[in-house]
Amino acid sequence: MNGSDLPGLPRDENGPVFAEPWQAQAFALAVRLSAQGHFTWKEWAEALAAELAAAVERDEADEDGSEYYHHWVATLEKLVAAKGLAGPPELFERKAAWADAFRHTPHGQPVQLRPDFRISYAYRQSPLHRVTREDGISKEIRVQDGHLFICNGCCCGRTDKGFPALPLDDFKKQWKKRGIRRRFHLTISGCLGPCTLANVILLQMHGRTMWFHSINHPSDVDLIYNYVERMLVDETDNEIPAELATRHFQRYI
Ligand code: FES
Repeated sequence: MNGSDLPGLPRDENGPVFAEPWQAQAFALAVRLSAQGHFTWKEWAEALAAELAAAVERDEADEDGSEYYHHWVATLEKLVAAKGLAGPPELFERKAAWADAFRHTPHGQPVQLRPDFRISYAYRQSPLHRVTREDGISKEIRVQDGHLFICNGCCCGRTDKGFPALPLDDFKKQWKKRGIRRRFHLTISGCLGPCTLANVILLQMHGRTMWFHSINHPSDVDLIYNYVERMLVDETDNEIPAELATRHFQRYI
């Protein structure tokens, strides 16, 4: 397997060329997984072609080949998830483990994963804040990273009114399954206001508010929680992913 059947692959007369070591590793991973029978090379070529075509659709065409291996890695992530080899939570955990390793490796030494690293969201639980109620009793509450409101009001999810069904169970199940509850809250709410855009959700993260419409499918739930998890892992406010950006809208001045 030398990639000669992959259009756009950076190569010279001897085979593929790599600008960075991680690109060679990503290439080798795909070759290895294919050799192990997890997917055929034809399947790989098709998945990569679809990823490259989607990038062109988003106006992110890889004009000079410098982005090729970013698309390669995106393809790899999707394919290993589709084949049940590693889902988004495992991938996020692995990335977080490497980010942790880089943060803890002294300059000049080889970067190695720390065996005791655990991302379990308990690893970085939200701080507690003590609040005194009006009756004088004080209680501890958790200060969280974010909150997701799923509209289940008079229109969102109401198929009897001609609106798309709402993937409500997926929102609930994934919230529990991903183990993010101590840092991120989920509320199934009444009408959030912009009914004509059904199905509407409101995402608050690190003080930032984002509204999305047309969140109709279980795959949309994956996109939302993948985005949330990325922000929980990075502890930064990432850009909205392209697949969601088209459904992002402004609600407040
Ligand atoms: S019912 Fe969802 S915005 Fe009104």
